[in-house]
Amino acid sequence: MSSAAPRPIAMFDSGFGGLTVARALIDLAPNEDLVYFGDTGRYPYGPRPHDEVRRYAHQITEWMVEAHDPKLVVVACNTATAVALDELQARFDVPVIGVVKPGLSAVLAVTDTDRVGVVGTVGTIASGAYQRAAAEVAPHIELTCAACPGFVEFVERGETDSEQVRVLAQRLLAPIADAKVDALLLGCTHYPFLARTIADVMGRDVVLVSSADETAFAVSSALAASGLEADGGRTGRHTFVSSGDIETFARLGRWLLGPELDTVIAYRWDLA
Ligand code: DGL
Repeated sequence: MSSAAPRPIAMFDSGFGGLTVARALIDLAPNEDLVYFGDTGRYPYGPRPHDEVRRYAHQITEWMVEAHDPKLVVVACNTATAVALDELQARFDVPVIGVVKPGLSAVLAVTDTDRVGVVGTVGTIASGAYQRAAAEVAPHIELTCAACPGFVEFVERGETDSEQVRVLAQRLLAPIADAKVDALLLGCTHYPFLARTIADVMGRDVVLVSSADETAFAVSSALAASGLEADGGRTGRHTFVSSGDIETFARLGRWLLGPELDTVIAYRWDLA
């Protein structure tokens, strides 16, 4: 038997948001090695032109493939999934999984009324990715989408439950509340960190859904289908890389993800 380390799963986001997906994956597949890249030096992605986000997604995937030889790449960012997933899947030999389809499946599984909301960044909502995916798989649903500019910045500052974020949420979520949805997809991987505030604003009759668990299931089924799962008896190694301030990433990231986020490796785009 070879004792070579198994190939890791690579995952990236603009910052801390993808840690919601990382948490779900670590819980579901604790034996897998994971390399997480948080592009905190260049967040937020949501307000950037689509071409710029596409370029970042290509750069990060290229670096991860070259430096870590992953067996699968997870785009743990709705904005990057919305604008770049198809291109990444076409360009790289390694399988690339995004968060839009898993998120949509998760919200469709819980709605009773078929009135569903999706909140995301300006980039995600403007891309029409959710609207197109819903029209394809569930044309009967009534979908209400709303962009929530500013939410990501609150999370990146570690401010997940303040009066300011509550006031902003009340304003931005008003169209979703007016549409009388019974299920709301948090279509930005940062937003589950604001779940308490969003739940208070939406009320008890609206089920909040994140794409994290469903994406983790999609990863684990893809690995099982291709026979690429790591051995069961081992504990996976988790590596975290940030293009921003690594001390902040370690402190805030550990608070958001948990003890697996220990040390953080610095990556500098200007030295790449
Ligand atoms: N967490 C990301 C998403 O799911 C990116 C948010 C951002 O950087 O604006 O869209």
